[in-house]
Amino acid sequence: MSNPRPPFVLGIETSCDETAAAVVCADPNQPILSNIIARQDHNTFGGVIPEVAARQHLRTITPTIKRALATAKLKPHEIDAVAATSGPGLLGGLIVGASFGQSFAAGLKRPFFSINHLEGHLLSARIHHSVWFPFLILLISGGHTELMIAHDIGVYQSLGRTIDDAAGEAFDKVARALGLGYPGGEEIEKYANIENDSTENKDTDLILPRPMIGRENCDFSFSGLKTAAFRAIQAKQASTAQVCRAMSSAISDCLVDRTARAIQHYRRIQPHSGHLVVAGGVAANQQIKAALDDLSTRNGMKLCAPPRDLCTDNAAMIAWAGLERLSRCRAMAVDAPRPRWPLTKLAAVG
Ligand code: KG4
Ligand code: ZN
Repeated sequence: MSNPRPPFVLGIETSCDETAAAVVCADPNQPILSNIIARQDHNTFGGVIPEVAARQHLRTITPTIKRALATAKLKPHEIDAVAATSGPGLLGGLIVGASFGQSFAAGLKRPFFSINHLEGHLLSARIHHSVWFPFLILLISGGHTELMIAHDIGVYQSLGRTIDDAAGEAFDKVARALGLGYPGGEEIEKYANIENDSTENKDTDLILPRPMIGRENCDFSFSGLKTAAFRAIQAKQASTAQVCRAMSSAISDCLVDRTARAIQHYRRIQPHSGHLVVAGGVAANQQIKAALDDLSTRNGMKLCAPPRDLCTDNAAMIAWAGLERLSRCRAMAVDAPRPRWPLTKLAAVG
């Protein structure tokens, strides 16, 4: 008897300002069949206006899903399950994506999965790599900075989180103060890599604070660092590149110190080896990734970071989280869209 074909899962992501749709399957050679992102431009208003974003999702969702299916060379009836982000995020956008996904699944009589956006980020490491539970996660995005242990799908233990701004938020706000574009982290990374020649006088380099370093717990804080950067910008104390370098180094050092602390907790349940997964938009940063790689090696762990295009928001990670849940339990899992949805409040599977 021939093997049944692997199931195809359509994923939908509309939690912020990207309308995204993707198709994935469990084929290790080609797990992502399509990954389409329609980015909204909110520069006119200087930020995302939730109602404007929701209307834009409504306009873009049908063509984005059609493109995802066409790129995957699939007809709608060939889709085996549908997964859509149901939180956390902006409610209007979440309602558009989740309602569309649920109706699409109902029309096809296929299971539907409400996916937590953060679970999408952290499981995305498993799309291209064999990462076994329990693994340690550093989730660093625009809205979240958190260290967790993933014991199983849906079973996440928080070790520590930011007590104020997220790392991505600090990058975005400082980038804005410098007159750079969005996403701020990507812009800051670009500027941090220029003017970095050997002729520059290192004595003039700006040093920014590294809050929480050395603390017993695994919490983060980035608001003091952000304020110190604002002051340096206002005082014209340093060039754009110097501020960017100082921001990148300070954030990188904070992430490494807090993660080192989390490794000690992780070692109690996994005394040898194991994976450190870094996920979320900030994980696209090469300097941060290199520092975490070094930390992992020193602690006998393997760093696993998704490729750059899977670090920032996308629908492949949502489809993948749906596929992981489908492969463990075929029952539908529907949760009403919600702006807040901590990872510690998820349903386990199986
Ligand atoms: O995961 P994500 O796309 O959206 C959220 O779920 O928040 O993360 C967006 C965040 C933004 O704050 C952005 O500035 C940051 O990720 N980011 C980066 C880089 N690319 C995006 N931060 C540092 N370096 C980058 N290369
Ligand atoms: Zn995200």
